Amino acid sequence: MIIKSITLTNFRNHKKYHLDLNPDTTLILGSNGWGKTSILEAIYILTRGKSFRATDPDIINRDAMFYRIELSYNNGEVRIATFDRENKTFICYDKKSRRLPKKAKYPVILFQPSDLNLLSGSPSRHRDYFDRIFSELNEDYSSSLLKYEKALKQRNELLKTDLPTESSMFSWNLLLAKYGTAINHYRQNFTTLINQDLNTTYYSIAENSDLVSLQYKTELSDISESKYLKLLEQNLTKDSYLGHTSFGVHRDDFEFLFNQKKADGSASRGETRSIILALKFVEAKIIESKLGEKPIILLDDVFSELDNTRRKFLVNNFKNHQVIITSVEDIK
Ligand SMILES: Nc1ncnc2c1ncn2[C@@H]1O[C@H](COP(=O)(O)OP(=O)(O)O)[C@@H](O)[C@H]1O
Ligand SMILES: [Mg+2]
Repeated sequence: MIIKSITLTNFRNHKKYHLDLNPDTTLILGSNGWGKTSILEAIYILTRGKSFRATDPDIINRDAMFYRIELSYNNGEVRIATFDRENKTFICYDKKSRRLPKKAKYPVILFQPSDLNLLSGSPSRHRDYFDRIFSELNEDYSSSLLKYEKALKQRNELLKTDLPTESSMFSWNLLLAKYGTAINHYRQNFTTLINQDLNTTYYSIAENSDLVSLQYKTELSDISESKYLKLLEQNLTKDSYLGHTSFGVHRDDFEFLFNQKKADGSASRGETRSIILALKFVEAKIIESKLGEKPIILLDDVFSELDNTRRKFLVNNFKNHQVIITSVEDIK
């Protein structure tokens, strides 16, 4: 699906803003603080359901009582999201809903400058990054993750009370074991899927024979639900001492390997950029083949971070997609 135009009202610093988009590439130029990322954020909210960087009270213009985003598509469809400081409302297919309906969700590849530091980030940043992609690929992953996080929060709260007992823990342990096993399984499979293409894609960009792969780091490979449950139960004393759950998929990590070594520290700056670029291309390819739709590509201020060769790769690779680029300086 192609977005034809976007209209914003009271969305961050945009009191009233309208932009017609090209079916192929649109360039949004503006100085820092002009509101470029906000435009991508608005598109993201109406395609993915929520912002990639904030919650609605931060987004609504400081002086306003509501915000409104309207996206028109080339097939005549119009979608709207509003927030009035209390309620969020989506209007899709002429129906109102509190959340973006599943069938209104559309895949997006978002590329931000911070992604270029992904390799050196913390485990939680790595998980957040891949969780977002995997959630886009699979609704069940997304809901398992939400349920896991909810149960984890409850279990951790209970651990902070004076006397957590095995029986009071049981229902949370059960949920953690159930969803944790599912998440673990999906993460293994998606990592394999990424690795099927990562190296050849990297090669097409860097044209050298370095080996690149993504490694899913977990304490739980191929663990059964009952074993998972048992380990949670065995950890009760330790966990109540710590005041949090010390075992589970919330401690997993993802690491890139470069010639079998940790890429963070062994790949150069240029090689790191090529790895991230390759990852983005692989993401798009997997999304396209799994969901049968061409993702919209949102490139937020990344051009200035890339040299000419890598810029060309980016443009060429996504030439059949709708691409929206923001930049401080004109790019040619
Ligand atoms: N809720 C808000 N109300 C009004 N202005 C906001 C709000 N949130 C952010 N801003 C301002 O909006 C401007 C645009 O931010 P952003 O889209 O990140 O700009 P850019 O990507 O062009 O650098 C910033 O100056 C920021 O301070
Ligand atoms: Mg910005």
